[in-house]
Amino acid sequence: MDYKKFIEEQISEIRDTVGKEKAINALSGGVDSSVVTVFGHRALGDQLETVFVDNALMREGEPEHVVKLFSKLGIKVKLIDARQEFLGALAGLTDPEQKRQAITDTFYSKVFARLVKESGAKFLLHGTILTDIEETVAGIKRQHNILVQIGIDTQKAYGYGLLEPLKSLRKDGVREVARLLELPGELSRRIPFPGPALATRIVGEVTEKRLKTVRTATAIVEEELSESGAFQYLAVLLSDRATGIRDNKREFGEIVVVRCIDSIDARTATVKELGWDKLNHICQRIVQIPGVNRCLYDLTPKPPATVEYV
Ligand code: XMP
Repeated sequence: MDYKKFIEEQISEIRDTVGKEKAINALSGGVDSSVVTVFGHRALGDQLETVFVDNALMREGEPEHVVKLFSKLGIKVKLIDARQEFLGALAGLTDPEQKRQAITDTFYSKVFARLVKESGAKFLLHGTILTDIEETVAGIKRQHNILVQIGIDTQKAYGYGLLEPLKSLRKDGVREVARLLELPGELSRRIPFPGPALATRIVGEVTEKRLKTVRTATAIVEEELSESGAFQYLAVLLSDRATGIRDNKREFGEIVVVRCIDSIDARTATVKELGWDKLNHICQRIVQIPGVNRCLYDLTPKPPATVEYV
């Protein structure tokens, strides 16, 4: 594939479709939405408003960090605090698909619909990639960003047209495009992080307390495995508990799973063989998180497992 040509084609298509109207896009800081943000800004300049929605489900310091990073690239990103809306929508939900649905609905029908209205945008630029579409259409998982492909007319449902310039690429293609766009390595090499964010890594109810636990575990895993060369690494909080001992007292504690995989495009994945010392060290750090007394390493490839737990 000629990626240089692909970039030119996508930028001119965005320009032609949007014309003199305004467009909006949501940046998450992942490589997909970062590439779309750069496409959009090159195509539309000030006609594009880029927002970062803080949904309470992001990693440590992520919203501020991403906004700062793009500001260095000369792209202004508006930070929207929607934490309470998302937490409210997720309260009491434990079913994976219901949780994903609540996030989709809160994002598109509430928060984003409001932002689009305020901005006067007629188009939404979206970082959907081919793998998201295939898995959703195949019924494996409802990716939160798939709308048109499952029969949702965004014009009718939400009042704006949808542009998905990356829908013919897989993750490796997007990274190549990011490299050609000269995005900082921190963005182009960023490991995948799902749209529904840490909610895909909490089995059971998503609460502020449980988010704090998984956020701390995520920071540890990301720090420890950043040099591993793996495709993706993550921490998951289970809904089960296990008996343990802390300060000579019985504790019925939380269980955190560490997952580290090799993959090309996330359609299939194998488990990374990490050294025992590294695993041990990660475990020691994870069980220092308040309330957590077990740390497990997931040995399951995809399939039959998926990468995320929700
Ligand atoms: P699964 O869990 O489906 O994950 O094997 C495959 C890859 O996709 C990411 N993922 C998502 N990305 N929205 C996204 O933008 C989602 O709803 C979503 N679910 C999973 C996951 O992190 C992995 O890289």
